[in-house]
Amino acid sequence: MTLAFDVYGTLIDPNAVFQKLTERIPEKAQAVMDLWRAKQLEYTFRRGLMGKYVDFAVCTRQALRFSCQTFEVNLSDADIEAVLAQYKTLPAYADVHTGLQALRDKDIQLVAFSNGSKADVTAVLKHAQILDFFKRVISVEAVKSFKPNPEVYEHLVNSTHADRSNTYLISSNSFDVLGAKAAGLKAIWLQRSDKQIMDFWEWTPDHVVHQLNEIRQLF
Ligand code: LAC
Repeated sequence: MTLAFDVYGTLIDPNAVFQKLTERIPEKAQAVMDLWRAKQLEYTFRRGLMGKYVDFAVCTRQALRFSCQTFEVNLSDADIEAVLAQYKTLPAYADVHTGLQALRDKDIQLVAFSNGSKADVTAVLKHAQILDFFKRVISVEAVKSFKPNPEVYEHLVNSTHADRSNTYLISSNSFDVLGAKAAGLKAIWLQRSDKQIMDFWEWTPDHVVHQLNEIRQLF
């Protein structure tokens, strides 16, 4: 069996960049942060549809600029670089280390599966001291598209030489959960907060958990 973990928002906390933004723009940091993340994902969806792939880091940079402009925040180029640099050293959520540790001794293949480039994801997992839990890092860059294009889930299954009915995506991102289900994989939704709502589409996750270490009990 393969457990494929989404990275940003699931293992790694993108909100940690909040600190750097708060230092520079205390009043508007939350608003900038929220639109930044939403735009970052929107850009991946649009680029996926347009067939105009760029590295996820480019989507991140362009979305930050858009969000700053929207809220009339003037960050210098150096400030932007400082905020983006923090994206490379984001921490893991508090439950991640013990959650992965609990799955380690089981006969399960753990992989990381992300929109981020292989180099960036490897670096951020290493910095968060969780890289060694994963047999490999699988990036959408090989397919030159983004989640939830079915081709990227196909790439995940092919890369792990696994059966899709035996491959679970674990993600806090509802679009990712539904993307995996639509592509015939299994999916576990990590609902990190009550404020997160699952989309009312024709698929539902196979399991819902609220902490990573609940996954151990499922298998
Ligand atoms: C990822 C995005 C969805 O890590 O956050 O793939």
